[in-house]
Amino acid sequence: DLRQELERLEKEFSVDAKKLKEISKQFEQELQDGLDKYGSNISMNVTWVLGWPDGHETGYFLTVDLGGTNLRVCWIHLTERSGDIKVTQEEYKLPKEVKTGGADQLFDFIAEQLKDFLEKHELRGTKDEPLQLGFTFSYPAHQDYIDHGKLVTWTKGFEIDGVEGEDAAGLLRAAIEKKDLPIHLVALINDTTGAMIASAYNDPDTIVGAIFGTGCNGAYMENVGSIHKLETGLPPETPMAINCEYGAFDNAHQALPRTKYDIKIDEESPKPGEQAFEKMSAGLYLGEIYRHVVLGLHEKGILFAGQDAAKLHEPYSLDTGFLSALENDMSIGMSDTRRSFREHLGFEASPEELIFSQRLAEAIAVRGARLCTCGIAAICRKKGIKSGHVAADGSVANKHPTFKKRWAAAMGEVLDWAEDRKEDPITITSAEDGSGVGAAVIAAMTLKRAKEGN
Ligand code: BG6
Ligand code: GLC
Repeated sequence: DLRQELERLEKEFSVDAKKLKEISKQFEQELQDGLDKYGSNISMNVTWVLGWPDGHETGYFLTVDLGGTNLRVCWIHLTERSGDIKVTQEEYKLPKEVKTGGADQLFDFIAEQLKDFLEKHELRGTKDEPLQLGFTFSYPAHQDYIDHGKLVTWTKGFEIDGVEGEDAAGLLRAAIEKKDLPIHLVALINDTTGAMIASAYNDPDTIVGAIFGTGCNGAYMENVGSIHKLETGLPPETPMAINCEYGAFDNAHQALPRTKYDIKIDEESPKPGEQAFEKMSAGLYLGEIYRHVVLGLHEKGILFAGQDAAKLHEPYSLDTGFLSALENDMSIGMSDTRRSFREHLGFEASPEELIFSQRLAEAIAVRGARLCTCGIAAICRKKGIKSGHVAADGSVANKHPTFKKRWAAAMGEVLDWAEDRKEDPITITSAEDGSGVGAAVIAAMTLKRAKEGN
């Protein structure tokens, strides 16, 4: 019956401290492999962001962000650390025909939105003094220099033909030129690097930039001498940000406790065998895991028996917001959830089914939050970092009310923090707008270096 199923599922989705430690240990090894050689599972992408901001980066910058929930364009005025940062922004939804079209459609669309933004906000540049653009492209990109980034593979369910293997910065630059816009693309960055640098602009205790959103990934600062796969000619102690791309952790399926639901999601995704870690921990997939469990029980006649499950068959129809609302439903008799099941899935839920659904949502979210510690714990252990701030952004970190608490508890278990500690030595802080402020600060750092001739 339902009670037994719940017990089974809660067991299946639980990851104890011992397992977390094992995972984190293998994580450390994969991070190291990625620094040692190209073609490793975790790619540890070099970013050419050479060091931390000093807080004196100033100026006006345009930024555009592709890779989270929306396409976002910002106009940013940086006025030194601690000063007011002025941000003007617009969000654009990617139309369906762009999401399933080709490279030209995608980059023409982005350029079109930039044009729209410039007109709307009366921003003018010239050929000699163009507006300086930071491009946040939150997919695995191989960068030979900072204003270049060859897409290795789409992630997060994106599938647009003609971009993999191509330089995304070059494609955007060409689309901007076609429209004759007075814009100069200065830097291509990942959202994790953006989160880290945006945070470090004001907070010197920043140690890692992390995204807990549609995808799951982290960035940190490495010494170029430790990036054995790369020959730079720079002094070995020169710092360089690394975008780990650790959503790909354990693609060989050796460490993660995958359930049959995780396996199904992987098989049905456009990229089976890729992003194993992300598929168990990131926002895009939490609702989908939930959907598969409920579907399985419905098919067995255990849940919502005899009711029409047509809506439940629709892939990715339940998002993280649905799960989070369900988990945190405080309404009397869970009337909010009852309504939500009716509206989203066409199900009439019994009191027993409501309670089951809530506990299941909790089990899936807790597993995700606990797994999310493994990559960051591995970075900290590898670098000997004992304390500091993990600058985090993304819909799971920001919109799931209990994520941070669960993450902190699991982090203590992985890193063996004293149980009676007064404070957690490593904490999550909110990244200040990585794809806006972070991209602007990185563009400013890049222009400054270019001016100084290095
Ligand atoms: C935004 C950042 O706040 O969060 C983006 O500015 C980032 O850079 C995004 O990609 C990630 O969150 P989500 O939930 O939209 O994937
Ligand atoms: C995916 C992308 C990565 C990004 C992360 C968070 O893992 O591959 O580049 O940082 O999602 O958005």
